[in-house]
Amino acid sequence: MSGVYEWDPGEANPKQKLFFASRKLYTGYGGAKGGGKTWAVRTKALLGAYNYPGIRILVMRRTYPELQSNHIEPMLKLVRPELASYNGSLHTLYFVNGSLIHFGHWAGEESELEYNGQEYDWIFLDEATQFTWRAFQFLGGLLRGVNDFPKRFYVTCNPGGVGHRWVKRLFIDRDFITNRENPEENENPEDYLFIPATVEDNAALLKSSPGYLRMLSAMPENLRRAYRYGDWDALGGNYFPELSEALHVSPPFQIPRHWRRYRAFDYGLDMFACAWFAVDEQGRSWMYREYSESGLIVQDAARAMLERTLPGERIEATFAPPDMWSRQKDSGRTMAELFFECGVPIQRAANSRVQGHMMIKEMLARRPDGRPSLLFFENCRQTLDDVRDIQADERQPNDCAREPHEVTHRVDALRYYCVSRVESAAEGEASAAGEGEGISYDEFITGRAPRDGYLNYGGILR
Ligand SMILES: Nc1ncnc2c1ncn2[C@@H]1O[C@H](COP(=O)(O)OP(=O)(O)O)[C@@H](O)[C@H]1O
Ligand SMILES: [Mg+2]
Repeated sequence: MSGVYEWDPGEANPKQKLFFASRKLYTGYGGAKGGGKTWAVRTKALLGAYNYPGIRILVMRRTYPELQSNHIEPMLKLVRPELASYNGSLHTLYFVNGSLIHFGHWAGEESELEYNGQEYDWIFLDEATQFTWRAFQFLGGLLRGVNDFPKRFYVTCNPGGVGHRWVKRLFIDRDFITNRENPEENENPEDYLFIPATVEDNAALLKSSPGYLRMLSAMPENLRRAYRYGDWDALGGNYFPELSEALHVSPPFQIPRHWRRYRAFDYGLDMFACAWFAVDEQGRSWMYREYSESGLIVQDAARAMLERTLPGERIEATFAPPDMWSRQKDSGRTMAELFFECGVPIQRAANSRVQGHMMIKEMLARRPDGRPSLLFFENCRQTLDDVRDIQADERQPNDCAREPHEVTHRVDALRYYCVSRVESAAEGEASAAGEGEGISYDEFITGRAPRDGYLNYGGILR
């Protein structure tokens, strides 16, 4: 079946019209909350499905409940039943003209597996600042297909969120990356258009909910500037705004042999993230190496850690999450035992999230000499990105958000180091060096709070 269906979605506001008219590869639309972005996404997706028989459209939102209430339900009310039918288990609306709209939400690495190999002509990312840079890049890879439909990526956004930085960089700052070695990877400024939205654009909303503006105006200053006026400098929402390239990031240098070295990691099958640190004469910590990989069993994680630790590097201790000491249901053993058997004895880090995150903050703060206690070699890019992007927990602002899960692993590894570091410094680090008292295997596997002597255990075994 071909042809164009008659459908009157109602009058679009001027910004929505610009959004509909954009012919760019990437169209950003946003700023204020309530400008009519989600309405524009629904309407544009439906118009596309009706007017381009056979087109494949993906509408994404971060969580399923948001997807359900903002897109699936309203869209099902809009479509004429004789023109399309909805498959609830596939979350896909199939049109009789061969078009389809798939509704998706993003669950991190799992979603990468789910979407791998799929192809779409248009992708809508609603509330894009809730998505990580990695998710955006991944989804961009789905924008392909051997047909004549122009490929389009539509991004709607409010300031604040884990994706604040990449959305602002591409659409507000237009600070595009050029890659001299691979010019085909260059971001082409011509491909990007941004349409700023304000609440005032949405006459329909102001008419139906006159209290909305009052509600926005009553918000704290930074939220009001972000949500009412779409001010991208008002709100990052990030937990570690103090992290600064100038203050905390250093080109790599040869680390003196006598600096003590430590490792810390976060482990799960979804992600193993390991960080290496060296401590200078003033007790400053320098994170000098990072490694992360998903899908590693303990043996592989241990091997990866050992392979990336150079022969001359003596690691005083490897700090690990407390759940490494939980007994596995089937084997009755702990991961700590497994790491131990693979040549990596580990030391249990304290689990207090709030305290641990505060500790990172303490270490990022300047000392009286003007320099912080924690610095990063610039090659630790992924860790730096995650520390910059991770958000404060909305319900508990003293803590980091646990979602999206994919940005938490490297920050967790850093946290395990920082809490353990502060603890071992308090216990008198000097006594930890050289005096190999050790602890028993039993003590080790119970994850008993380590004594100083334990810090040498890694040295004995390796
Ligand atoms: N052109 C329009 N015509 C009628 N109602 C609209 C229009 N644009 C937006 N709305 C309504 O205004 C409200 C807010 O719009 P929405 O798209 O949810 O804003 P945003 O996603 O930018 O926060 C919704 O109830 C939406 O249905
Ligand atoms: Mg919306």
